Amino acid sequence: AGAASSPIPLGSAAEIDTFRSDMRYREALKRYCDVIVPMNDLKWEALRHDRPRFDFSGSDELVAFAEANRKTLRGHTLLWGEALPAWAKEMTTRAEAERELVNHIEIVVDRYRGRIATWDVVNEVIKYDPQPGEPYRDTIWQRLLGPEHVEIAFRTAARADPKARLVLNDFHFEEREPGAAARRKVALDICRRLKDKGIPVHGIGMQAHLYAEKRIDTEGLQRFMRDLDSLGLDVEITELDVIDWKMPADAGQRDAAAASLVASFLGAICAAKRPKAIVTWGLSDRYSWIHETFPRKDGARARPLPLDADYRPKPMMAVLEGYRSGAY
Ligand code: G3I
Repeated sequence: AGAASSPIPLGSAAEIDTFRSDMRYREALKRYCDVIVPMNDLKWEALRHDRPRFDFSGSDELVAFAEANRKTLRGHTLLWGEALPAWAKEMTTRAEAERELVNHIEIVVDRYRGRIATWDVVNEVIKYDPQPGEPYRDTIWQRLLGPEHVEIAFRTAARADPKARLVLNDFHFEEREPGAAARRKVALDICRRLKDKGIPVHGIGMQAHLYAEKRIDTEGLQRFMRDLDSLGLDVEITELDVIDWKMPADAGQRDAAAASLVASFLGAICAAKRPKAIVTWGLSDRYSWIHETFPRKDGARARPLPLDADYRPKPMMAVLEGYRSGAY
């Protein structure tokens, strides 16, 4: 049967040490991904150990791998309040912060112009629990530049690569909770302000680190998709995985619950708007930030991703492949 819908490119983040040491990891990236995003190698921490010198060794390696295997690339991320080298955290003046931010974006985006198709221009700039008049997270950028830090980042990235798609990337948009709804509104407000100032912005990245025990806000997400449409913005899923630390230990049960959560999340989104891509934050349960960040009390290993620790597809992979093939 022909595809029922337009296929949605599937992708994953790639962590450089694992990429270099685990052949099965590289093979899985080749087999399952249309899109690759360097997990850490385009962050300031990786690129800018020392202030005067840029270290592109990791990013160049992953970009070359993606191009050799005809994968499209996402760049993560030009501005974040975390993963910063010490010297950046010690900046003290507005002038210094603006000079360093503009210089960084110009050099990094110029190097990969026409090769990295989409940039997470800003990552996690929304305060976790935004208050009226206080939408932004307290980062070095917000402290020194104020709300303009977002405008400077988007304006500079657009100037450096006018053809790149420029995305605002953030998390905690998905759950049926007042905080998630407030964050969706702030994300739209930031994008609306950029557009009103004639600053290019193309889409919102939903990280979608989903909690297995929480409910997806189907109505809220579909309203969000319609609001994005009215602003002429795209959506992409940028860091999908499932945090299952509150679930029973049984692997089969957890895998089924994770797959149905991902199915209901993607079903809610895709019923209203087709994402540009669905990117998971890794492919195999063998490697995930979730093991360290959300350790289970029973010591069982987390099962957040579409392949198990031996690279065998889990029910979640069938859901993702359904979107990748256009079956859903
Ligand atoms: O590569 C070095 C290694 O050489 C060294 O031996 C080791 C011990 O110091 O550190 C390694 O770097 C670590 C890196 O992960 C690779 O494992 C960094 O210390 C560590 O901070 C880094 O954590 C990453 C984290 O972002 C902070 O940058 C995680 O891998 C990565 O999965 C996580 O991803 C974030 C997204 O960027 C934004 N959204 C949330 C997501 C999960 O936190």
